[in-house]
Amino acid sequence: MKKYTRIFQGTAFSSKSPKEVNILKDYLFCINEDGMIEKVAGPEDEAYQELLGTYSGEANFHRLAEGQYFLPGFVDLHVHAPQWAQSGTALDLPLYDWLNTYTFPLESKFSDLQFAENVYQDLVSTLLANGTTTALYFATIHKEASLLLAEICAKKGQRGLIGKVVMDDPEQNPIDYRDENTDQAIKDTEEFILAVKELAEQVKQGVYPVVTPRFIPSCTDNALKGLGELAAKYDTHVQSHCSESDWAHGSVRERFDKNDAFALNDFGLLRDKSVMAHCNFLSDDDVDLFAETGTAISHCPISNAYFANSVIPIAHFHEKGVEIGLGSDVSGGFSPSLFDNARQAVMSSRMLEDGVNPNLPSEGRGVPSSRITINQAFYFATAGGGESLSLPIGRLEENYVWDVQVIDTNIASAKLPIFNKEEDLLDIFQKIMYLVRPENIREVWVQGDLVHSR
Ligand code: GUN
Ligand code: FE
Repeated sequence: MKKYTRIFQGTAFSSKSPKEVNILKDYLFCINEDGMIEKVAGPEDEAYQELLGTYSGEANFHRLAEGQYFLPGFVDLHVHAPQWAQSGTALDLPLYDWLNTYTFPLESKFSDLQFAENVYQDLVSTLLANGTTTALYFATIHKEASLLLAEICAKKGQRGLIGKVVMDDPEQNPIDYRDENTDQAIKDTEEFILAVKELAEQVKQGVYPVVTPRFIPSCTDNALKGLGELAAKYDTHVQSHCSESDWAHGSVRERFDKNDAFALNDFGLLRDKSVMAHCNFLSDDDVDLFAETGTAISHCPISNAYFANSVIPIAHFHEKGVEIGLGSDVSGGFSPSLFDNARQAVMSSRMLEDGVNPNLPSEGRGVPSSRITINQAFYFATAGGGESLSLPIGRLEENYVWDVQVIDTNIASAKLPIFNKEEDLLDIFQKIMYLVRPENIREVWVQGDLVHSR
Protein backbone atom coordinates (compact mmCIF):
# COMPACT_ATOMS: atom_id res chain seq x y z
CA MET A 1 0.00 0.00 0.00
CA LYS A 2 1.12 3.53 -0.82
CA LYS A 3 2.87 5.29 2.07
CA TYR A 4 1.08 8.49 3.06
CA THR A 5 2.62 11.16 5.26
CA ARG A 6 -0.53 11.63 7.32
CA ILE A 7 -4.02 10.24 7.47
CA PHE A 8 -6.97 12.12 8.97
CA GLN A 9 -10.32 10.61 9.89
CA GLY A 10 -13.43 12.62 10.62
CA THR A 11 -16.52 14.34 9.28
CA ALA A 12 -15.84 17.19 6.87
CA PHE A 13 -17.81 19.89 5.08
CA SER A 14 -16.72 21.10 1.65
CA SER A 15 -18.57 22.88 -1.15
CA LYS A 16 -20.04 20.59 -3.79
CA SER A 17 -21.28 23.58 -5.79
CA PRO A 18 -21.78 27.25 -4.90
CA LYS A 19 -25.13 26.43 -3.31
CA GLU A 20 -24.55 22.91 -2.00
CA VAL A 21 -22.36 21.62 0.80
CA ASN A 22 -20.94 18.13 0.62
CA ILE A 23 -21.03 16.21 3.91
CA LEU A 24 -18.20 13.72 4.12
CA LYS A 25 -19.23 11.66 7.12
CA ASP A 26 -16.37 9.88 8.83
CA TYR A 27 -14.09 10.09 5.79
CA LEU A 28 -10.40 9.35 5.49
CA PHE A 29 -8.08 11.97 3.98
CA CYS A 30 -4.66 10.70 2.89
CA ILE A 31 -2.00 13.40 2.68
CA ASN A 32 1.26 13.06 0.78
CA GLU A 33 4.64 14.62 1.53
CA ASP A 34 3.79 17.69 -0.54
CA GLY A 35 0.82 18.41 1.73
CA MET A 36 -1.71 17.48 -0.97
CA ILE A 37 -4.81 15.37 -0.46
CA GLU A 38 -3.84 12.36 -2.53
CA LYS A 39 -6.76 10.13 -1.65
CA VAL A 40 -10.20 10.61 -0.12
CA ALA A 41 -12.09 7.51 1.01
CA GLY A 42 -15.56 7.16 2.51
CA PRO A 43 -16.78 4.25 4.66
CA GLU A 44 -18.37 2.63 1.58
CA ASP A 45 -15.17 2.74 -0.46
CA GLU A 46 -13.14 -0.39 -1.04
CA ALA A 47 -9.88 1.07 0.26
CA TYR A 48 -11.39 2.35 3.51
CA GLN A 49 -10.94 -0.71 5.74
CA GLU A 50 -7.53 -1.44 4.35
CA LEU A 51 -6.37 2.13 5.03
CA LEU A 52 -7.78 1.97 8.54
CA GLY A 53 -6.07 -1.36 9.15
CA THR A 54 -2.74 -0.01 7.96
CA TYR A 55 -2.74 3.37 9.65
CA SER A 56 -4.98 3.52 12.73
CA GLY A 57 -2.90 3.61 15.86
CA GLU A 58 0.15 4.92 13.98
CA ALA A 59 1.71 8.25 14.97
CA ASN A 60 0.65 9.86 11.69
CA PHE A 61 -3.03 8.85 12.05
CA HIS A 62 -5.27 11.66 13.31
CA ARG A 63 -8.84 10.89 14.29
CA LEU A 64 -11.21 13.68 15.26
CA ALA A 65 -12.95 13.40 18.63
CA GLU A 66 -16.72 13.50 18.91
CA GLY A 67 -18.09 16.98 18.22
CA GLN A 68 -15.13 17.92 16.01
CA TYR A 69 -15.35 18.65 12.29
CA PHE A 70 -13.08 19.57 9.39
CA LEU A 71 -13.70 22.69 7.33
CA PRO A 72 -11.43 23.88 4.53
CA GLY A 73 -9.16 26.72 5.60
CA PHE A 74 -10.54 30.11 4.65
CA VAL A 75 -9.18 32.24 1.82
CA ASP A 76 -9.23 35.95 2.70
CA LEU A 77 -9.16 37.77 -0.63
CA HIS A 78 -8.55 41.25 0.74
CA VAL A 79 -6.55 42.28 3.82
CA HIS A 80 -4.62 45.50 4.43
CA ALA A 81 -1.93 44.12 6.73
CA PRO A 82 -0.75 47.48 8.17
CA GLN A 83 -4.31 48.52 8.99
CA TRP A 84 -4.54 45.74 11.59
CA ALA A 85 -3.06 48.33 13.95
CA GLN A 86 -6.25 50.42 13.69
CA SER A 87 -8.84 47.66 13.40
CA GLY A 88 -12.07 48.46 15.18
CA THR A 89 -11.37 52.19 15.26
CA ALA A 90 -11.77 55.15 12.96
CA LEU A 91 -14.92 53.98 11.20
CA ASP A 92 -16.67 57.33 11.49
CA LEU A 93 -15.66 59.04 8.24
CA PRO A 94 -16.39 58.49 4.54
CA LEU A 95 -13.75 56.69 2.46
CA TYR A 96 -11.80 59.70 1.19
CA ASP A 97 -11.52 61.30 4.63
CA TRP A 98 -10.84 57.97 6.33
CA LEU A 99 -7.91 57.33 3.99
CA ASN A 100 -6.40 60.77 4.49
CA THR A 101 -7.10 61.24 8.19
CA TYR A 102 -6.33 57.82 9.60
CA THR A 103 -5.11 55.31 7.08
CA PHE A 104 -2.31 56.96 5.11
CA PRO A 105 -0.70 58.35 8.31
CA LEU A 106 -0.80 54.87 9.85
CA GLU A 107 0.58 53.14 6.76
CA SER A 108 3.42 55.67 6.50
CA LYS A 109 4.77 54.34 9.80
CA PHE A 110 5.67 51.05 8.16
CA SER A 111 8.94 52.52 6.98
CA ASP A 112 9.92 51.48 10.51
CA LEU A 113 10.71 47.78 10.17
CA GLN A 114 10.41 47.10 13.90
CA PHE A 115 6.89 48.51 13.97
CA ALA A 116 6.06 46.53 10.82
CA GLU A 117 7.38 43.36 12.39
CA ASN A 118 5.26 43.80 15.55
CA VAL A 119 2.06 44.38 13.61
CA TYR A 120 2.63 41.77 10.91
CA GLN A 121 3.63 38.99 13.33
CA ASP A 122 0.49 39.58 15.32
CA LEU A 123 -1.79 39.80 12.28
CA VAL A 124 -0.58 36.61 10.60
CA SER A 125 -0.97 34.66 13.86
CA THR A 126 -4.43 36.17 14.38
CA LEU A 127 -5.60 35.30 10.89
CA LEU A 128 -4.36 31.72 11.27
CA ALA A 129 -6.16 31.45 14.63
CA ASN A 130 -9.33 32.57 12.85
CA GLY A 131 -9.01 29.80 10.28
CA THR A 132 -7.56 31.86 7.42
CA THR A 133 -4.97 29.67 5.72
CA THR A 134 -4.50 31.84 2.61
CA ALA A 135 -4.50 35.64 2.54
CA LEU A 136 -4.22 38.16 -0.28
CA TYR A 137 -2.50 41.14 1.33
CA PHE A 138 -1.97 44.78 0.58
CA ALA A 139 1.17 45.78 2.49
CA THR A 140 2.38 49.40 2.16
CA ILE A 141 4.45 51.39 -0.33
CA HIS A 142 7.63 50.22 1.46
CA LYS A 143 9.48 47.46 -0.38
CA GLU A 144 11.41 46.20 2.66
CA ALA A 145 8.44 46.05 5.00
CA SER A 146 6.35 44.35 2.30
CA LEU A 147 9.05 41.71 1.91
CA LEU A 148 9.09 41.30 5.69
CA LEU A 149 5.37 40.43 5.57
CA ALA A 150 6.13 37.75 2.96
CA GLU A 151 8.86 36.33 5.22
CA ILE A 152 6.54 36.27 8.22
CA CYS A 153 3.86 34.40 6.24
CA ALA A 154 6.55 31.98 5.07
CA LYS A 155 7.77 31.33 8.64
CA LYS A 156 4.36 31.03 10.25
CA GLY A 157 3.13 28.66 7.55
CA GLN A 158 0.44 30.81 6.00
CA ARG A 159 0.00 30.95 2.24
CA GLY A 160 0.51 34.65 1.61
CA LEU A 161 0.00 36.63 -1.57
CA ILE A 162 1.54 40.01 -0.97
CA GLY A 163 1.54 43.32 -2.76
CA LYS A 164 3.84 46.26 -2.33
CA VAL A 165 1.31 49.05 -2.76
CA VAL A 166 1.80 51.60 -5.54
CA MET A 167 0.49 55.16 -5.09
CA ASP A 168 2.67 57.47 -7.14
CA ASP A 169 0.47 60.44 -8.08
CA PRO A 170 1.86 63.52 -6.27
CA GLU A 171 -1.45 65.32 -6.78
CA GLN A 172 -3.45 62.67 -4.97
CA ASN A 173 -1.22 61.30 -2.21
CA PRO A 174 0.37 62.91 0.85
CA ILE A 175 3.99 63.93 0.51
CA ASP A 176 5.08 61.61 3.30
CA TYR A 177 3.20 58.61 2.00
CA ARG A 178 3.66 58.05 -1.71
CA ASP A 179 6.17 56.50 -4.09
CA GLU A 180 9.09 58.78 -4.79
CA ASN A 181 8.13 58.91 -8.47
CA THR A 182 6.63 56.65 -11.12
CA ASP A 183 9.90 55.03 -12.22
CA GLN A 184 10.81 54.24 -8.63
CA ALA A 185 7.38 52.71 -8.01
CA ILE A 186 7.81 50.37 -10.98
CA LYS A 187 11.42 49.58 -10.09
CA ASP A 188 10.52 48.80 -6.46
CA THR A 189 7.62 46.62 -7.60
CA GLU A 190 9.86 44.65 -9.96
CA GLU A 191 12.51 44.15 -7.27
CA PHE A 192 9.79 43.10 -4.86
CA ILE A 193 8.42 40.55 -7.33
CA LEU A 194 11.89 39.05 -7.82
CA ALA A 195 12.61 38.93 -4.09
CA VAL A 196 9.32 37.16 -3.28
CA LYS A 197 9.85 34.70 -6.11
CA GLU A 198 13.25 33.87 -4.68
CA LEU A 199 11.81 33.48 -1.17
CA ALA A 200 9.08 31.23 -2.60
CA GLU A 201 11.64 28.65 -3.65
CA GLN A 202 11.96 27.54 -0.03
CA VAL A 203 8.32 27.88 1.06
CA LYS A 204 6.24 24.71 0.99
CA GLN A 205 2.83 26.40 1.16
CA GLY A 206 3.84 29.14 -1.29
CA VAL A 207 4.24 32.90 -1.12
CA TYR A 208 3.39 35.00 -4.14
CA PRO A 209 4.11 38.57 -5.25
CA VAL A 210 1.08 40.60 -6.30
CA VAL A 211 1.04 43.67 -8.54
CA THR A 212 -0.88 46.22 -6.46
CA PRO A 213 -1.95 49.64 -7.70
CA ARG A 214 -3.86 50.87 -4.63
CA PHE A 215 -6.74 52.10 -6.78
CA ILE A 216 -6.93 54.20 -9.91
CA PRO A 217 -7.24 57.54 -8.06
CA SER A 218 -3.86 57.07 -6.36
CA CYS A 219 -1.90 56.16 -9.53
CA THR A 220 -0.70 57.97 -12.65
CA ASP A 221 -1.48 56.54 -16.07
CA ASN A 222 2.20 55.64 -16.50
CA ALA A 223 2.26 53.69 -13.24
CA LEU A 224 -0.89 51.78 -14.17
CA LYS A 225 0.60 50.96 -17.57
CA GLY A 226 3.94 49.89 -16.09
CA LEU A 227 2.21 47.68 -13.53
CA GLY A 228 0.11 46.00 -16.23
CA GLU A 229 3.34 45.24 -18.09
CA LEU A 230 4.99 43.79 -14.98
CA ALA A 231 1.97 41.56 -14.32
CA ALA A 232 2.25 40.20 -17.86
CA LYS A 233 6.05 39.87 -17.75
CA TYR A 234 6.05 37.83 -14.52
CA ASP A 235 2.55 36.34 -14.80
CA THR A 236 1.70 37.55 -11.29
CA HIS A 237 -1.54 38.02 -9.46
CA VAL A 238 -2.98 41.56 -9.58
CA GLN A 239 -5.13 43.29 -6.98
CA SER A 240 -6.71 46.70 -6.57
CA HIS A 241 -9.90 48.40 -5.41
CA CYS A 242 -12.62 48.75 -8.00
CA SER A 243 -15.80 50.88 -8.05
CA GLU A 244 -16.01 50.80 -4.26
CA SER A 245 -17.90 53.94 -3.21
CA ASP A 246 -19.78 56.80 -4.88
CA TRP A 247 -16.65 58.94 -4.62
CA ALA A 248 -14.11 56.30 -5.79
CA HIS A 249 -16.33 55.16 -8.67
CA GLY A 250 -17.27 58.71 -9.65
CA SER A 251 -13.72 60.06 -9.68
CA VAL A 252 -12.60 57.39 -12.17
CA ARG A 253 -15.60 58.16 -14.38
CA GLU A 254 -14.61 61.80 -14.29
CA ARG A 255 -11.00 61.05 -15.20
CA PHE A 256 -11.53 58.46 -17.95
CA ASP A 257 -15.20 58.75 -18.83
CA LYS A 258 -15.49 55.03 -18.16
CA ASN A 259 -15.90 52.71 -15.22
CA ASP A 260 -12.96 51.31 -13.25
CA ALA A 261 -13.32 47.90 -14.88
CA PHE A 262 -12.72 49.14 -18.43
CA ALA A 263 -10.03 51.58 -17.32
CA LEU A 264 -8.16 48.82 -15.44
CA ASN A 265 -8.51 46.57 -18.46
CA ASP A 266 -7.01 49.23 -20.75
CA PHE A 267 -3.87 49.09 -18.58
CA GLY A 268 -3.66 45.28 -18.73
CA LEU A 269 -4.71 44.89 -15.12
CA LEU A 270 -7.69 42.57 -15.61
CA ARG A 271 -6.22 39.12 -15.99
CA ASP A 272 -7.06 35.59 -14.96
CA LYS A 273 -5.22 36.05 -11.66
CA SER A 274 -6.68 39.51 -10.94
CA VAL A 275 -8.80 40.08 -7.84
CA MET A 276 -10.66 43.36 -7.44
CA ALA A 277 -11.96 44.42 -4.05
CA HIS A 278 -15.50 45.68 -3.44
CA CYS A 279 -16.85 46.26 -6.98
CA ASN A 280 -20.17 47.52 -5.65
CA PHE A 281 -20.93 49.73 -8.64
CA LEU A 282 -20.11 47.35 -11.51
CA SER A 283 -22.43 47.65 -14.50
CA ASP A 284 -23.53 44.52 -16.34
CA ASP A 285 -20.91 45.29 -19.01
CA ASP A 286 -18.24 45.54 -16.30
CA VAL A 287 -19.35 42.18 -14.94
CA ASP A 288 -19.17 40.61 -18.40
CA LEU A 289 -15.65 41.99 -18.78
CA PHE A 290 -14.69 40.44 -15.43
CA ALA A 291 -16.09 37.09 -16.55
CA GLU A 292 -14.30 37.27 -19.93
CA THR A 293 -10.92 38.18 -18.43
CA GLY A 294 -11.20 35.76 -15.48
CA THR A 295 -11.05 38.64 -13.00
CA ALA A 296 -12.53 37.85 -9.59
CA ILE A 297 -14.45 39.98 -7.10
CA SER A 298 -13.34 40.11 -3.50
CA HIS A 299 -16.58 40.73 -1.63
CA CYS A 300 -15.96 42.66 1.60
CA PRO A 301 -19.36 42.83 3.30
CA ILE A 302 -18.39 44.33 6.66
CA SER A 303 -16.27 47.06 5.11
CA ASN A 304 -19.00 47.79 2.58
CA ALA A 305 -21.40 48.61 5.41
CA TYR A 306 -19.10 51.52 6.33
CA PHE A 307 -17.59 52.76 3.09
CA ALA A 308 -19.41 51.49 0.00
CA ASN A 309 -22.59 53.61 0.21
CA SER A 310 -24.51 50.55 -1.01
CA VAL A 311 -25.02 46.80 -0.78
CA ILE A 312 -23.34 44.94 -3.62
CA PRO A 313 -25.72 42.80 -5.73
CA ILE A 314 -23.49 39.79 -5.20
CA ALA A 315 -26.12 37.15 -6.11
CA HIS A 316 -26.66 38.87 -9.46
CA PHE A 317 -22.92 39.11 -10.18
CA HIS A 318 -22.47 35.46 -9.30
CA GLU A 319 -25.35 34.44 -11.58
CA LYS A 320 -23.49 36.21 -14.39
CA GLY A 321 -20.51 33.88 -13.97
CA VAL A 322 -17.88 35.94 -12.16
CA GLU A 323 -15.57 34.26 -9.65
CA ILE A 324 -16.18 35.57 -6.14
CA GLY A 325 -14.38 35.24 -2.84
CA LEU A 326 -14.69 36.91 0.55
CA GLY A 327 -12.44 39.60 1.97
CA SER A 328 -12.19 40.96 5.48
CA ASP A 329 -10.75 44.26 4.19
CA VAL A 330 -9.10 44.79 7.55
CA SER A 331 -9.46 47.56 8.67
CA GLY A 332 -12.25 49.01 6.52
CA GLY A 333 -13.83 45.86 7.90
CA PHE A 334 -13.09 45.59 11.61
CA SER A 335 -13.05 41.79 11.90
CA PRO A 336 -10.17 39.47 10.98
CA SER A 337 -12.65 36.58 10.84
CA LEU A 338 -14.15 35.27 7.62
CA PHE A 339 -16.84 33.63 9.76
CA ASP A 340 -17.94 37.16 10.68
CA ASN A 341 -17.74 38.25 7.06
CA ALA A 342 -19.73 35.24 5.82
CA ARG A 343 -22.47 36.11 8.32
CA GLN A 344 -22.49 39.75 7.21
CA ALA A 345 -22.56 38.70 3.54
CA VAL A 346 -25.78 36.81 4.14
CA MET A 347 -27.35 39.56 6.28
CA SER A 348 -26.47 42.35 3.84
CA SER A 349 -27.89 40.38 0.93
CA ARG A 350 -31.15 39.87 2.83
CA MET A 351 -31.38 43.60 3.48
CA LEU A 352 -30.82 44.33 -0.21
CA GLU A 353 -33.55 41.87 -1.15
CA ASP A 354 -36.13 43.23 1.27
CA GLY A 355 -35.00 46.87 1.19
CA VAL A 356 -34.23 49.04 4.16
CA ASN A 357 -36.59 52.03 4.16
CA PRO A 358 -39.74 51.17 6.12
CA ASN A 359 -41.46 54.27 4.74
CA LEU A 360 -41.59 52.67 1.30
CA PRO A 361 -44.25 50.11 0.37
CA SER A 362 -42.86 46.58 0.61
CA GLU A 363 -43.23 45.90 -3.15
CA GLY A 364 -40.84 48.70 -4.07
CA ARG A 365 -38.52 48.51 -1.09
CA GLY A 366 -35.90 46.00 -2.16
CA VAL A 367 -34.18 44.26 -5.05
CA PRO A 368 -35.75 40.83 -5.71
CA SER A 369 -33.56 37.70 -5.82
CA SER A 370 -30.63 39.34 -4.04
CA ARG A 371 -30.25 36.99 -1.12
CA ILE A 372 -27.45 34.52 -0.74
CA THR A 373 -27.49 31.58 1.66
CA ILE A 374 -24.90 30.65 4.28
CA ASN A 375 -23.88 27.80 1.94
CA GLN A 376 -22.96 30.37 -0.72
CA ALA A 377 -21.11 32.53 1.78
CA PHE A 378 -19.15 29.42 2.81
CA TYR A 379 -18.40 28.74 -0.85
CA PHE A 380 -17.08 32.29 -1.29
CA ALA A 381 -14.86 31.93 1.81
CA THR A 382 -13.38 28.65 0.56
CA ALA A 383 -13.69 27.22 -2.97
CA GLY A 384 -14.62 30.57 -4.54
CA GLY A 385 -11.53 32.17 -3.05
CA GLY A 386 -9.39 29.32 -4.36
CA GLU A 387 -10.77 29.66 -7.88
CA SER A 388 -10.32 33.41 -7.76
CA LEU A 389 -6.61 32.88 -7.09
CA SER A 390 -6.30 29.94 -9.52
CA LEU A 391 -4.85 27.78 -6.73
CA PRO A 392 -5.84 24.23 -5.67
CA ILE A 393 -7.20 25.39 -2.32
CA GLY A 394 -10.56 25.71 -0.58
CA ARG A 395 -11.97 22.21 -1.11
CA LEU A 396 -11.44 18.93 0.69
CA GLU A 397 -10.99 16.87 -2.46
CA GLU A 398 -8.24 14.87 -4.11
CA ASN A 399 -5.51 17.04 -5.67
CA TYR A 400 -6.31 19.95 -3.37
CA VAL A 401 -3.99 20.99 -0.55
CA TRP A 402 -4.58 19.94 3.04
CA ASP A 403 -5.55 23.40 4.34
CA VAL A 404 -7.96 22.72 7.14
CA GLN A 405 -9.54 24.06 10.31
CA VAL A 406 -10.57 21.60 13.00
CA ILE A 407 -13.75 22.94 14.58
CA ASP A 408 -14.56 21.77 18.10
CA THR A 409 -18.21 22.32 18.99
CA ASN A 410 -17.62 21.29 22.63
CA ILE A 411 -15.34 24.06 23.93
CA ALA A 412 -16.65 24.96 27.41
CA SER A 413 -16.50 28.74 26.87
CA ALA A 414 -18.00 28.60 23.39
CA LYS A 415 -20.15 25.48 23.23
CA LEU A 416 -22.44 25.24 20.24
CA PRO A 417 -26.10 24.46 21.03
CA ILE A 418 -26.11 20.84 19.90
CA PHE A 419 -28.39 18.77 22.15
CA ASN A 420 -29.12 15.82 19.94
CA LYS A 421 -26.41 13.26 19.19
CA GLU A 422 -28.17 12.45 15.93
CA GLU A 423 -28.57 16.06 14.84
CA ASP A 424 -28.71 16.57 11.11
CA LEU A 425 -25.20 17.33 9.88
CA LEU A 426 -26.35 20.20 7.68
CA ASP A 427 -27.84 21.85 10.78
CA ILE A 428 -24.54 21.38 12.57
CA PHE A 429 -22.79 22.95 9.58
CA GLN A 430 -25.06 26.01 9.80
CA LYS A 431 -24.50 26.32 13.54
CA ILE A 432 -20.76 26.22 12.90
CA MET A 433 -20.99 28.94 10.26
CA TYR A 434 -23.10 31.22 12.43
CA LEU A 435 -21.78 30.58 15.93
CA VAL A 436 -18.12 29.57 15.81
CA ARG A 437 -15.67 31.80 17.63
CA PRO A 438 -11.90 31.60 17.53
CA GLU A 439 -11.95 29.36 20.65
CA ASN A 440 -13.73 26.67 18.64
CA ILE A 441 -10.92 26.52 16.07
CA ARG A 442 -8.76 23.88 17.71
CA GLU A 443 -6.24 23.28 14.97
CA VAL A 444 -5.29 24.88 11.69
CA TRP A 445 -3.29 23.02 9.04
CA VAL A 446 -1.68 24.49 5.94
CA GLN A 447 -0.26 22.31 3.16
CA GLY A 448 -0.23 19.30 5.48
CA ASP A 449 1.49 21.03 8.42
CA LEU A 450 0.04 22.10 11.76
CA VAL A 451 0.35 25.89 12.02
CA HIS A 452 -1.99 26.71 14.91
CA SER A 453 -3.42 24.79 17.86
CA ARG A 454 -5.16 25.64 21.11
N1 GUN B 1 -9.49 52.46 -1.47
C1 GUN B 1 -8.20 52.81 -1.55
N2 GUN B 1 -7.52 52.41 -0.48
C2 GUN B 1 -8.39 51.77 0.32
C3 GUN B 1 -8.29 51.12 1.58
O1 GUN B 1 -7.24 51.06 2.21
N3 GUN B 1 -9.44 50.56 2.06
C4 GUN B 1 -10.62 50.62 1.39
N4 GUN B 1 -11.70 50.05 1.92
N5 GUN B 1 -10.74 51.24 0.21
C5 GUN B 1 -9.65 51.81 -0.33
FE1 FE C 1 -9.36 47.62 0.86
